[in-house]
Amino acid sequence: MRGLENQPLTTAQQSEFLAFAQEDPRGSSFMVYNPSKLAGQISQWKDHLSWISPFYAMKSNPIEPLISDIAKNGLGFDCASKFEIKTALDLGTKPEHIVFSNSVKEEKDLEYALQNNVLMTTADTYDELVKIKSVSDKFKVLWRLSIKENNAEKLATIFSNKFGDDLESIEEADSRFKQISDMGIKLHGIHFHCGSGPDGSSTFSKAIEMAKSCIVLGRKYGHSMEVLNMGGGYPSGILPKNLIKDLKATENDPLGYKVMAEPGRYMSSNTCHLGFRILGKRVKSGKVCYHINDSLYHSFNCNLMDGVSFEKSTDQFYSSWENGKSSQVKKEDLTNGSIFGMTCDGYDIIANNINVPEMNVGDWIFMGGMGSYTYGPKSFFNGMNALERIFVYEGRQEAEIGAGEKEVLDAKF
Ligand SMILES: Cc1ncc(COP(=O)(O)O)c(C=O)c1O
Repeated sequence: MRGLENQPLTTAQQSEFLAFAQEDPRGSSFMVYNPSKLAGQISQWKDHLSWISPFYAMKSNPIEPLISDIAKNGLGFDCASKFEIKTALDLGTKPEHIVFSNSVKEEKDLEYALQNNVLMTTADTYDELVKIKSVSDKFKVLWRLSIKENNAEKLATIFSNKFGDDLESIEEADSRFKQISDMGIKLHGIHFHCGSGPDGSSTFSKAIEMAKSCIVLGRKYGHSMEVLNMGGGYPSGILPKNLIKDLKATENDPLGYKVMAEPGRYMSSNTCHLGFRILGKRVKSGKVCYHINDSLYHSFNCNLMDGVSFEKSTDQFYSSWENGKSSQVKKEDLTNGSIFGMTCDGYDIIANNINVPEMNVGDWIFMGGMGSYTYGPKSFFNGMNALERIFVYEGRQEAEIGAGEKEVLDAKF
């Protein structure tokens, strides 16, 4: 089934995913993590954005095999809480490779960060600076700017309504950095976070320009401004040429700052497939409706909070697997149907209009590109669980099935 990644499963994937399902045919939904997808994203980053140190935004997907691969590859972590900081430290991450990137923090979390030497953090209000200073003046604070998006409607989440300093003019910025200096605080750098969405933000160029002006202004008042943190907001999948061009404005900049970023979905989105099964089937208003063992309160929280929609998805593709053989379901065998979540909430409808084949209770379905903001936000609503099991895709059958299959997997890089 078409997920956010938009690629059909290879035969090798179908076979291995179904073997995972067979381990507990009546089990809850599960995730299949594919390490080679993460490796592809990391090498694409190194090839095109080598001067930008990536600090993975753990919130986008904190599953163990993924974050431990992130740590093994030497990436840093963007953490939003004590729990995430502890998780990163437990993986052996050096404290200086962690940014506590949450502009409004709990004091006890700041104390934990301090005890563990995690000193780089962000702020965007005077009150937060006072709070940080009350815990310690050792913190290295990055000042978060608010970024008004060029194409807000194309993004899943914009942040400027909630976070960031709304600096409207050079004069305002100048007086901000003077006042912070008068408070006895010297800023370590600038932070911004463009809006987030599967296609990424198109506002990096504007954000970088603002950040550079702030670096110049801030240094006038003794702020070291030695770091530029370009937050998240990168697309899942391929880095478009224009984005690389926009980001190049920070490469070898004579202003001489270190460049870092907090990519979340760029790293995690295409690393995971979601596997779920049909729990029930009914007809409503002449339409076939499938109840599945996942919900808007679980993996499909990305529909609610992350702007993802499978509505009106008439371009679905499916393969079916029978007697050890895969066959593509013909377009003419699809009908307009609905997919309902497993909770008792009448609002828990994953898609009202989506093309579906004839399926039966107990059938397993797989969707790609389900690695971001699916596992992290899942709840225990109705006492129901999802994604209790995470499998790692090994490509066991790929060698047996042949090299042609492998080409499909690697086609994006
Ligand atoms: C501070 C911060 N950094 C990074 C990210 C990751 O964003 P994305 O997944 O778009 O890369 C987020 C997401 O909410 C965030 O709040």
